[in-house]
Amino acid sequence: VSLQAYNTFGIPATARYFSTFESIEDLGNILSDSRWKNMPLLILGGGSNILLTKDFNGLVLKNNIKGIEKTGTAGDHVYMKSGAGENWHGFVQHCIQENLAGLENLSLIPGNVGASPMQNIGAYGVEIKDTFHSLTAFHIEERKIMTFNNADCKFGYRESVFKRELKNEFVIVDVTYQLNKTPHFNTSYGAIEQELTQMGVKDLSIQAISQAVINIRSSKLPNPAEIGNAGSFFKNPEIPATQYETLKAKFPNIVAYPLPSGHVKLAAGWLIEQCGWKGFREGDAGVHAKQALVLVNYGRATGSEIYDLSSKVLASVQEKFGVALEREVNII
Ligand code: FAD
Ligand code: EPU
Repeated sequence: VSLQAYNTFGIPATARYFSTFESIEDLGNILSDSRWKNMPLLILGGGSNILLTKDFNGLVLKNNIKGIEKTGTAGDHVYMKSGAGENWHGFVQHCIQENLAGLENLSLIPGNVGASPMQNIGAYGVEIKDTFHSLTAFHIEERKIMTFNNADCKFGYRESVFKRELKNEFVIVDVTYQLNKTPHFNTSYGAIEQELTQMGVKDLSIQAISQAVINIRSSKLPNPAEIGNAGSFFKNPEIPATQYETLKAKFPNIVAYPLPSGHVKLAAGWLIEQCGWKGFREGDAGVHAKQALVLVNYGRATGSEIYDLSSKVLASVQEKFGVALEREVNII
């Protein structure tokens, strides 16, 4: 089965077996079939954060569990639960239409709700951990359903327990967010204020913030429907303050953000651009011309060509700045 339509990089890798599931019961039935025992398993959402480097010699299961419901209220909070197979931006828009605040800065992030806790998706000054309440997950080996609260997920910057200790152990089934009736606007990310002014917004609203984020994102991130990509290919590296001071002395324009921990986060896009990669293309694998942190497939690149390009980018940033980039995209 070709996976080309199931990954936003548009890589034409194949899966030995492919199936979808619409419910936990479905999932349980598929997994209890002895044919899949000891076979590699890949749970797929929207395929917007994976790079398929070769054909998958196992079972690919696409999560299609649907449904959005309000599960409760408590004071100013409203709890919204979504099936893992719902489109993320659709869920965000649903909440905004209900006048529920908390996810507006995360508008237009591709992919499905089920993957949102995997790497604690974030953008424009907000991460899902700020409003995440709990999730239901199915333990693949033990066939049991478990609940994880915010602390259980061990969220970090583009991190969670599901990417580390519990990697490949659970299928996320649904996710509940704790949203607010009274909005707490977050416009701290520089470009948002600018965009709101340009839009002529006088009364701030979650609708306006969502639109500002949509406008900014559309202006610099490639649309996967036109150019294959999986968003930021690397994480923004975090380095000790002393190392930062040394770098700053040598590269006065370096783009960096101080962290509460005392560490400093560097803009990887800046580091990559300084190494001369922005707009680079070799065959159909390239570095996006408007955002150097995004690797792109112009059409016929293979997963291993994209991966090899990422290795070259890594090596050159290491050489010029002494900083080790880490891949953010899940390499399959
Ligand atoms: P997939 O790519 O299908 O899966 C990602 C990983 O999670 C895989 O390892 C998969 O096995 C696992 N997985 C998926 N669903 C489940 C499940 N239900 N249970 C268990 N495991 C599962 N990310 C950000 O954080 N911020 C951004 O601003 C951002 N911008 C992007 C812009 C573009 C143009 C693109 C293409 C991507 C961007 N991303 C961003 C990355 C991506 O959108 C997110 O990581 C998203 O959450 C991935 O969702 P998905 O459903 O496509 O996951
Ligand atoms: N920059 C450059 N050159 C570039 C790109 C960026 O110099 O080619 C510098 C600029 O100074 C810019 C700064 O880097 O001001 C930050 O760039 P941008 O605002 O585009 O954000 P980012 O740090 O590159 C991160 C996330 C994005 C998220 C945006 C907005 C990571 C790995 N990436 O990118 O997430 O949308 O912030 O909050 O943290 C993703 O994860 O896929 C993703 C797109």
